[in-house]
Amino acid sequence: MDTSSTGTKEVKSWESMDLLSSILVVTNLLFFLFKISYGVLDSITPSQRLSDGDTIVSREGNFVLGFFSPGSSKNRYLGIWHRSIPDQTVVWVANRVHPINDTFGILMINSTGNLNVIQNNSVVWSASTLKEAQNPLLQLLDNGNLVVTDGNSEDYLWQSFDYPSDTMLSGMKFGWDLKRGLNRRFIAWKNWDDPSPGNFIMEMTHHNYPEAYLWQGSTIYFRSGPWNGYRFSGLPGLKPNPLFAFKFVFNQDEAYFICTLKQSLHTRSLVNQTNSMFQRFTWTEQSWKLHSYHPTDFCDTYALCGAYARCLVTDFPVCQCLNGFKPKSQQRWDSMDWSQGCARNKRLSCEEKSTHGFLKFSGLKLPDTTHSWLNTKMNLKECRAECLNNCSCMAYTNSDIREGSGCAIWFGDLVDIKQFPAGGQDLYIRMHPSELGMSLIL
Ligand SMILES: *[C@@H]1O[C@H](CO)[C@@H](O)[C@H](O)[C@H]1NC(C)=O
Ligand SMILES: *[C@@H]1O[C@H](CO)[C@@H](O)[C@H](O)[C@H]1NC(C)=O
Ligand SMILES: *[C@@H]1O[C@H](CO)[C@@H](O)[C@H](O)[C@H]1NC(C)=O
Ligand SMILES: *[C@@H]1O[C@H](CO)[C@@H](O)[C@H](O)[C@H]1NC(C)=O
Ligand SMILES: *[C@@H]1O[C@H](CO)[C@@H](O)[C@H](O)[C@H]1NC(C)=O
Repeated sequence: MDTSSTGTKEVKSWESMDLLSSILVVTNLLFFLFKISYGVLDSITPSQRLSDGDTIVSREGNFVLGFFSPGSSKNRYLGIWHRSIPDQTVVWVANRVHPINDTFGILMINSTGNLNVIQNNSVVWSASTLKEAQNPLLQLLDNGNLVVTDGNSEDYLWQSFDYPSDTMLSGMKFGWDLKRGLNRRFIAWKNWDDPSPGNFIMEMTHHNYPEAYLWQGSTIYFRSGPWNGYRFSGLPGLKPNPLFAFKFVFNQDEAYFICTLKQSLHTRSLVNQTNSMFQRFTWTEQSWKLHSYHPTDFCDTYALCGAYARCLVTDFPVCQCLNGFKPKSQQRWDSMDWSQGCARNKRLSCEEKSTHGFLKFSGLKLPDTTHSWLNTKMNLKECRAECLNNCSCMAYTNSDIREGSGCAIWFGDLVDIKQFPAGGQDLYIRMHPSELGMSLIL
């Protein structure tokens, strides 16, 4: 604890006080010193500061905020970690790109609520609030969220959950606040000695029909598929379960996924640069157990089979052209280079668009939604008409499969289609009339 910056001010005010209140102030100050040095505080105000070596602990004792050194590094970072877990498990880092090279780092909240991490008078990290606070308080909550509040207001003027590092905790929104242009995404640590941003990133797209991408540099590595009312189309394993509840919110203002715990336990999900995976761990019997991970199999490799092909992991080869399509290059296809994908047996002509029909394909992960359109009010019949009417529309389906409602349509090539043994979705693909045979969809 270092109170030198506020010392002068306090001494001045003591001069005008009587002895008793001075004693009270001193006692309070001592009590405060005692509390912070034993890490019992869960918050700090502008008159306090958090020096390297001090910590604040959330009320129920789940999480700690303080300075740490990762792995074998000597650098110091301000971060949040699980308190009761012996191997320090860091879930958030403030100064990811500006490490402190000595133990003189200090965290302060100033009188308007802005946060500053300072090393010998130079600011290494700062965060500003949405609006100026009158009585700011920086508090670490038991879900691991570090928040700035003002007086008795419950609104957060700033929160660490809006600026995640590599870890998704329960109660954290993953995705966009479209009004503020805030993209809450997860960026892997470079390595376990260095929390600076690696090139493995998970983020929510905000196309017309949002879905999550895992990026490796500028390459899409894995795609979740769009939300279908129950789950992401590409994650049929995401089912109601006793551990956590989840939901997806998409409207004019927001596009996010959120997970909340149903039980009191430690769980964390993170993007891991080491093995290019998004992993969920739960703490059981003295260790972190891997609970789930993505991508899960070869067919999760983004666009492995190219356009108009499906990937079925139990097939050999895993890639097959959809009915009505053939390899663009048979030679390449036969040598198991599927990247060029498939093309129609019979080309479509826009002049004949009204003669086209649709073939129903089932059990799929819906194709990439970069060029798509969504209308949550339309039914399937209206959706078909909408698609048929526009000859760049290649496919349509219900956007919400719970009761079969809403309309999603795709323009251009359909890529990254996976076939599931169970839990996949229907997709209606535009076809030349000669390809429709008996399965014409009216
Ligand atoms: C720490 O960084 C400062 C500023 O970048 C530099 O001047 C100083 O020499 C460094 N100290 C050590 C111990 O590396
Ligand atoms: C609080 O900190 C911010 C960011 O460092 C700074 O811009 C602002 O002037 C500070 N406010 C006061 C009252 O010191
Ligand atoms: C920071 O200040 C301390 C004590 O005043 C000093 O020992 C240290 O060398 C300084 N560090 C830097 C990076 O200037
Ligand atoms: C990342 O994955 C590697 C390899 O599976 C694992 O050893 C490591 O513990 C993971 N990192 C974290 C922070 O869990
Ligand atoms: C078809 O859809 C595309 C993409 O939304 C749009 O640019 C185009 O204007 C539409 N064409 C017709 C005829 O509606």
